[in-house]
Amino acid sequence: MQIMRTLLLLTAAALTACTSSESESETRPTGRNVLDAAAIKSAASGQVSFTDHVKPILEAKCAMCHNQTGLPGRLSFANQKEAVKTGTLGVFIVPGHPEKSRFLTHLKSAHSSIKAMPPVGETLTSEEISLLSRWISQGAAWPAAKAGTLITEG
Ligand code: HEC
Repeated sequence: MQIMRTLLLLTAAALTACTSSESESETRPTGRNVLDAAAIKSAASGQVSFTDHVKPILEAKCAMCHNQTGLPGRLSFANQKEAVKTGTLGVFIVPGHPEKSRFLTHLKSAHSSIKAMPPVGETLTSEEISLLSRWISQGAAWPAAKAGTLITEG
């Protein structure tokens, strides 16, 4: 099911990329914040929490593709163990160093071969990007077990 879903998503993204040169945005609606204003505000000034702030964003915008079923061998956001194993945490997310974290710096180029970022679905908002960047600066804590496990099916 997961593979089918990802293939469908990618096919839709590819078709749109081929058939309409200027309407890339059709598969990439302007991003809306996943979190409510209060959560964005608390993350902007205080400690960013994986479970309260980071997880809901990744679940809504990234984890449906980035898991070991959808993209075997590529970066996975499914849980802390897989994140470490696939380099998501450690290689792509360098704790303490958002500027070295390809997770953030390569977001656009990573998806350039499929002409979108993320290829379908909503883009990250500027608030979300700065929230994720602050999370990485603060050490990118990713809890093990259930607290750090994301829903990867929509
Ligand atoms: C519809 C599926 C899909 C969604 C949603 C998606 N990605 Fe991707 N992503 C891919 C695919 C497929 C690749 C591999 C692209 C390639 O190699 O050309 C990729 C590659 C990447 C890479 C580069 C990995 C590498 O090996 O160099 C990063 C970083 C990344 N994605 C981050 C994200 C983040 C963060 C989000 C959420 C905001 C996201 N992606 C959402 C499908 C997706």
